[in-house]
Parts: sequence; C-alpha cells; structure tokens
Amino acid sequence: MSTIAEPERYRAYWHAHWSRVAPGDPARAAGRITYGTEEVAAVSEDAIRELELCGDDVFLDLGCARGLMREYLEPKVRRYFGLDYIPAMRPAVIGLAQRLPFRDATFDKVLMAGVLVCIHPEDYRQIFGEIRRVTKPIGRAMIASNPFEFSSEMAHVFSFESLSALARECGWTEARQTPISPLVEQVHGYFDMVIQ
Ligand SMILES: C[S@@+](CC[C@H](N)C(=O)[O-])C[C@H]1O[C@@H](n2cnc3c(N)ncnc32)[C@H](O)[C@@H]1O
Repeated sequence: MSTIAEPERYRAYWHAHWSRVAPGDPARAAGRITYGTEEVAAVSEDAIRELELCGDDVFLDLGCARGLMREYLEPKVRRYFGLDYIPAMRPAVIGLAQRLPFRDATFDKVLMAGVLVCIHPEDYRQIFGEIRRVTKPIGRAMIASNPFEFSSEMAHVFSFESLSALARECGWTEARQTPISPLVEQVHGYFDMVIQ
C-alpha cells in the first residue's frame, strides 16, 4: 500500500516534472497555469455534457485550483464544492485527493480535471478509491486530462487501459472514453474518462 505523502512532496514532484518538461516556461514549471480561458470553457462544457450535470447534483471539483471552471459548473448544480490542497488557491475546501475530507457517498458527480499529472502515479489507486468512496453508488466521475500530458514523458501512465483497469479495481463498474472539444488542442491519445 502506498504511503500518503504530504503536500510538500507533491509540490516538489510536480515542480521537478514541469521543470523538465517546460524549462523555458517559469509559470508552467511552477504549476501555476493549466490552459487558457477558451480551453477551460470547452473542458467545462465537456464535463457538463458527459456528467449530465443537473440542478439536483451535489458536485465536487477536485483540484479546482483558483476555480477557473467554477463560473461554468456552479450554475448547473445544486451545491458546488471546490477542493484543492494549496491554500493560496483559496479553494472552498482545503484537502488532499488522497484522503478526501468528506463522508462516504456525499457527491452525485465528481470532476477531476488536469490533476493526475500533478500526482505521483503510486497514489492513483488510493485517489480512485477515495473518489469512489465519496461518490454515491449511482454517481459518476469524470477524469479529464490536459493535452500536454500526452506530449510529455509521462504519457504512458495516462492510457485508457491503465486508468480504466485501476478504476475497476477501485470499485467502479463502468469506464468509457469520451470525446474532447475540438477547441482544445488535439494531441494523439488525448481523452477524458467517465467512470460510474
Ligand atoms: C493543473 S491544475 C487543474 C485545475 C483545474 N481543475 C482545471 O482543470 O483548470 C491541478 C490542480 O490540482 C491540485 N492538486 C494537485 N495535487 C493535488 C492533491 N493531491 N490533492 C488536491 N489537489 C491537488 C493543484 O494544486 C492544482 O491546483
């Protein structure tokens, strides 16, 4: 079983990763940017459609950063919770994906967009299990990635085969690849995954 690491370890890991991948881009190397406004809107639309967000939903935006997607997602649901582990992002809930500070079966829908790349792969199993735990049995989650993950040296850990197998091991019974908006940079192998 993997150990639960502290936020500092993740920051160091992510910083090192992006320093290698984008050494000429200090903001990206520091993990401070994801993508532009148009891409955020497009990914939000993908999530609204594939998660079938509705006015009854209690919704978790896991790894919400500064809440870029909030303006698109919050109006679609009954209750919106944004969680991030970096207090400076000023999320509504400060917490780690590895041990989510919520009771079992709290949420109808969960979105984790662009977050896996910030997390050490040895903890993916724990996180998929945590998302399963806090999601209602009939709930649904979407794991959305960033296009640049697929041009990085870590692309192999983001294959649908490996992520969907992990999801099943963690109690999810269905996993499917979903289309991404054509507005988002198209990179070979890029997909989002819906699990339920
Ligand atoms: C690349 S940003 C994506 C932000 C937003 N979801 C989006 O798509 O625009 C990744 C976010 O995940 C957060 N994050 C990374 N590891 C985390 C963890 N273990 N627990 C909670 N949040 C985490 C980071 O602090 C960062 O704000």
